[in-house]
Amino acid sequence: MTTLTEATDTAATTGERVLPPLRIGRHVIESPVVLAPMAGVTNRAFRRICREAGDAGLAASGATGAHSLYVNEMVTSRALVERTPESMRLIEHDEDEVPRSVQLYSVDPATTAKAVRMLVTEEGADHIDLNFGCPVPKVTRKGGGAALPWKRDLFRSIVAAAVSEGAKGDVPVTVKMRAGIDDEHLTYLDAARAAVDEGVAAVALHARTASQAYSGTADWSRIRLLKQEITEVPVLGNGDIWSAEDALAMVEQTGCDGVVVGRGCLGRPWLFADLAAAFAGTTVRVRPTLGEVGATLRRHAELLTDFHGDELKACRDIRKHIAWYLKGFPAGSRIRNQLALVDSLTALDELIATLDPDTPWPGEAAEGQRGRAGSSRVVHLPENWLASRELDEDQQAQVAQAEQSVVDGG
Ligand SMILES: Cc1cc2nc3c(=O)[nH]c(=O)nc-3n(C[C@H](O)[C@H](O)[C@H](O)COP(=O)(O)O)c2cc1C
Repeated sequence: MTTLTEATDTAATTGERVLPPLRIGRHVIESPVVLAPMAGVTNRAFRRICREAGDAGLAASGATGAHSLYVNEMVTSRALVERTPESMRLIEHDEDEVPRSVQLYSVDPATTAKAVRMLVTEEGADHIDLNFGCPVPKVTRKGGGAALPWKRDLFRSIVAAAVSEGAKGDVPVTVKMRAGIDDEHLTYLDAARAAVDEGVAAVALHARTASQAYSGTADWSRIRLLKQEITEVPVLGNGDIWSAEDALAMVEQTGCDGVVVGRGCLGRPWLFADLAAAFAGTTVRVRPTLGEVGATLRRHAELLTDFHGDELKACRDIRKHIAWYLKGFPAGSRIRNQLALVDSLTALDELIATLDPDTPWPGEAAEGQRGRAGSSRVVHLPENWLASRELDEDQQAQVAQAEQSVVDGG
């Protein structure tokens, strides 16, 4: 990634860092940037290309120290405790990956405790993030994901279980959540307070409600409010950061201590170089040519082959990234369609070779929103869920099943 073209307007470079390093428990994260966990995306392979880009960006901007924080895609506590082959593969890290960060999805304190103990004592995790943001109907219908913080005691006891097990290995625990179920049922302020009281090391807010799913815009004013309320630990802002300039704007508007970036880096891992540079006070931005994008895409596919241990699986996986990598470039629909059906690394090489490597970065056409959008919806919840903030017996039984139906993050 160090070879990527750096188009710059260095005139405005101040060299003054925008924020101090992010401190998450014992970890000092030089660039206050977190790769958002994304199911099916932020595996070991994707994290590696993001890390390489981020490190190159840090080096180019003259900063030193640990790179950004790259969180694993979510794994359910139950699957982990049962040591399912898939969950064990999901928690893999590269040898040189530090901190080794894992996101857990949990619905009960006992399984949470077991999963965290296992991660800390047997799997070498350095950081655990708890996912309370999933808006998928299958999950919220059983009271899991973004529906869970509504039940104050349950939320608090899951966080407490994770923090207490993490503390035994000096492993900080953070929470990532949405603003609430919908605008009438916001949970983020009291959930964050409870999480901080229980000892989390940071709080991340995706400033949308579950009802918004990925539609509309994230309401950054809620991040600002959260930052005003929570002063003991870092507050991380998340939602709609598509460029380094967006990240700086979020910090400016909300006062948050760091940013969490999801869809903006899909097909664009070099965004981590831009982010590192921006937070180090420089205007250096990576603007790759089509040839460089093709090389990154190829490397991603190669790393996926190592991750899946299977070339065909890796090719199937890389297909969903193609449109993101090529966004805005003048590559015809025929080549795009062929790339979206690629079934071997050799075929991928042949197709990439047909792209004009000197095509420059297309600018605005490649910027802006990418990945999921969709529309807002009514959130499916267990019966009478909203009637009380305490859990009744029927609901308890339903929540216990919530973990079995998790398929996706969010
Ligand atoms: C494909 C995809 C998968 C996701 N999976 C997870 C997940 O496993 N855990 C989680 O907490 N959030 C998950 N999210 C939500 C993101 O972490 C992030 O909160 C959200 O995309 C908003 O940030 P953004 O606007 O920067 O994308 C997912 C989002 C996408 C698009």
